[in-house]
Amino acid sequence: MNEADAHPTRATRTLLIVLAVTFVYSGLRYHVFGGVPWSQLPLYVTNKATSWAALTLLALAYISRDGRFAREAGMLGLLLSATHVILSQTILDPAYYDKLYVGAHFSAIAETALLAGVGAATVLMIPAVATLPGVRANLGEDRWRRWLRAGHPGLALVALHCALLGCKGWFAPGTWPGYMPPITLIATLIALAPMLARRRR
Ligand code: HEM
Repeated sequence: MNEADAHPTRATRTLLIVLAVTFVYSGLRYHVFGGVPWSQLPLYVTNKATSWAALTLLALAYISRDGRFAREAGMLGLLLSATHVILSQTILDPAYYDKLYVGAHFSAIAETALLAGVGAATVLMIPAVATLPGVRANLGEDRWRRWLRAGHPGLALVALHCALLGCKGWFAPGTWPGYMPPITLIATLIALAPMLARRRR
């Protein structure tokens, strides 16, 4: 093993910092100020921190001009997104997400939000596949670049997913635990950041 391989890459260090921030924020917002029992840290609150970290890595991948960092951050972001999808499935129940349900079923807004999430997960697979070895040569340069750019509509779907899930609470700062803004609001802005950065370039 050469010495460079023994050290964590920039993307791995970024992952650890982002996870530390999202876990501390989620722990403070939900457990310390929001009164959510600590027994719900392993799934419910971990799901919030994980999904937020996933999105942040995906957005950083699209903002960065460093090809290696972008590739690694994108893959890590996609991996954490898969964790978020699995975690969500285990607790998708009115006991955890009362606000998403009307009686036994999801509300129309919740169904649309979850469809946007599924759409995002599907579309984000396209740039991930594009980064696999040999795909660039097979697709040719133009198509390969188009596949990479599919991440932008993918992130737009994540923004829709988060906005529909959380926008009800965005305009009532008095109800925010510890006056900490909702993760869905922060996440929507993060998801839109790469598109805004691209327009400014
Ligand atoms: C099958 C696909 C998906 C499902 C079923 C799903 C499900 C959920 C659920 C149940 C929530 C919790 C809402 C709440 O606590 O109020 C959520 C929030 C969230 N999701 Fe997804 N999601 C999916 C895809 C994605 C993808 C691909 C991303 C991109 C990283 C993503 C990012 C987020 C973020 C950032 C939040 C806000 C965290 C929070 O405040 O709880 N989701 N999702």
